[in-house]
Amino acid sequence: MSVRLAEPVSDAAVWPRSTREHAGDLTIGGLTSVELAERFGTPLYVLDEQHVRDTCRAYRRALPGVEIAYAAKAFLCRGLVGWLREEGFGLDVCSAGELALATLAGMPGERIILHGNAKSADELRAALRLGVGRIVLDNPAEIARLAALVAPRQRQRVMVRVVPGIEAGAHHAIRTGGEDQKFGLSIARGDAEDAVLRAMAQPHLEPTGLHCHLGSQIGSVRPWLAAVATLVEFLAGLRDRHGIVLPELNLGGGHGIAYRGGEHPLDIEAFADDVRRQLNRRCALYDLPVPRLIVEPGRAITGPAGVALYRVLVVKRTAHRVFVAVDGGMADNPRPALYGARSTVRLVGRPGAAGTRRVTVVGRYCESGDVLAADVELPEDVHPGDLLAMPAAGAYQQSMASTYNLVGRPPVVAVRDGRSRVLLRREGIEDLLARDTGSES
Ligand code: LLP
Repeated sequence: MSVRLAEPVSDAAVWPRSTREHAGDLTIGGLTSVELAERFGTPLYVLDEQHVRDTCRAYRRALPGVEIAYAAKAFLCRGLVGWLREEGFGLDVCSAGELALATLAGMPGERIILHGNAKSADELRAALRLGVGRIVLDNPAEIARLAALVAPRQRQRVMVRVVPGIEAGAHHAIRTGGEDQKFGLSIARGDAEDAVLRAMAQPHLEPTGLHCHLGSQIGSVRPWLAAVATLVEFLAGLRDRHGIVLPELNLGGGHGIAYRGGEHPLDIEAFADDVRRQLNRRCALYDLPVPRLIVEPGRAITGPAGVALYRVLVVKRTAHRVFVAVDGGMADNPRPALYGARSTVRLVGRPGAAGTRRVTVVGRYCESGDVLAADVELPEDVHPGDLLAMPAAGAYQQSMASTYNLVGRPPVVAVRDGRSRVLLRREGIEDLLARDTGSES
């Protein structure tokens, strides 16, 4: 269907770039939400392919010479890996499953970085077999464990994940740069230095640099500038005390996005300029060669390109509020329940009444904490059968979805130039029943 006299959507910053508004409906990638919902059912995740590709290109332009590894945990499927490969991105993976999928989709091993605070021996073996570019060491014990698994005439490139002691991120559950959390090795306590020395002492390991990930959904460049100062000082210490010069610095991900009108994403050009300037300045201070940068954005690449579509099933008034219950909820989007995350909701598919009412959009799962959006304004005539859309849904929703209450996970459909392609199909009841062996004794 062609796009008729469509206008840019209000709150344009939170919707995929191709989103247009016409007669109360939204088109994404040239397709109306009504036709997408009818064709693929709801709940449905729609991903604007061109938006993902444009974001990749903006990153490449802002960060020339920097290696960019998309954080697969944000959302992963074979189709997406193909786009990332074509756009010159690498991949950060944190499990044998993500690694297997990346390889199946043709991501070259040397462009893959393996993370994890508790990697199994099988995961390390898979990484070695598939020729992963770097393995990020997160604890002292895995250094010897990994070295023992490397084939006799091979050397595995590794990085050491360090804790710079800098807190950043939108919620305490996604802050990883401080001392009191499970990831990485403390610079302040000397653990990071010990780990670098141990890794250097292993003939089968080749330490290329340091890794740090401060946290997620960070809106300001400032924490990274502080981290660069700490990391460069540490690099200089390694050189001064041990004659070790590490050529790479991985600053992780964490680049924030807008979930609601008025919120601002991290400005990637400002990030690029400020971080580079800080790195150059700090390295000059210690007369240290400037290490090659790596970044690992996840949310910022796929998040803004995604929209979740839900069908309203029930509108219920209680003494306290009006509940609008939809056919999805906390199992396909656990972020509100986990982090108190809030995002925009709007009626799509028809023009709503001019008047609005304050409602709480809830899901269909069996707990009262299954809230998608508390206290939001929707047209006062919202009723069963209506479609609701939530933007910024391309990251950490599908990838964190569960099959709670034995409800299958929604599909993900890519849209572009008026065409749609199913990237992940809907999980049916047959899928859910298939893993139950029926064994009774
Ligand atoms: N690199 C490492 C080592 C990470 O642990 C992460 C995210 C990233 C990169 C990518 O971060 P991003 O650019 O996507 O913020 N489920 C949470 C987010 C958890 C992030 C975990 N690590 C949420 O929904 O907000």
